[in-house]
Amino acid sequence: MKLFIDTANLDEIREVHSWGILSGVTTNPSLIAREGRDFIEVVHEICELVQGPVSAEVTAQDAEGMIREGRLLAQIHEHVVVKVPLLEPGLMACSVLASEGIAVNVTLCFQASQALLAGLAGATYVSPFIGRIDDISWDGGELIEHITEIYAQSPSIHTQVLAASLRHPQHLVQAALSGADVATCPYKVLKQALKHPLTDIGNQRFLEDWEAVPERDISVLVQRWLQSR
Ligand code: G3P
Repeated sequence: MKLFIDTANLDEIREVHSWGILSGVTTNPSLIAREGRDFIEVVHEICELVQGPVSAEVTAQDAEGMIREGRLLAQIHEHVVVKVPLLEPGLMACSVLASEGIAVNVTLCFQASQALLAGLAGATYVSPFIGRIDDISWDGGELIEHITEIYAQSPSIHTQVLAASLRHPQHLVQAALSGADVATCPYKVLKQALKHPLTDIGNQRFLEDWEAVPERDISVLVQRWLQSR
């Protein structure tokens, strides 16, 4: 499973990108609004930094408007993925944009039947919203399993399942175990996913024990060993 970050904040993206584990970025109108910056500039900067797929969402509500906005967004950078909502106009826009070779992320997916339609419309990604499904007491992991199974049985569908709306590290694990191709995580969830108190305690104990070693500068030790050979 690949990992994307779900944010439009350049500092967060820069930090996680430096870990060497980031394959792409997803944004949405709420995340862009939070930054208070020019939409197009932000998307371009993110694309340049990450050099991988970056979802940028249309805001028109009719198919014609979504297609027009999608074509424009696709001109910002080769890595832009046009994001459209899983509504009737979104499906129509996805079919047209995909037929023109534009990558599309169909978002706000809450049931497997929607994902089937997005797949048939040629979506590059479909985004089931795991956290929001939990909010209504349904099982996000089961939804991902159903979608991946449907796609596996449909040779004409090449859509990747992009697990979104992940609220905690367990959602990330659930996405991976359920067969998602990609998970997009907020910065906070990625930090939580990395951190474990026993890792910190264990690391501290190793350092304390190492203090008892008289000669402990590794570069000096290795240089001396290399010269003695
Ligand atoms: O990727 C979708 C995400 O931004 C929505 O997350 O936590 O608002 O459901 P949330």
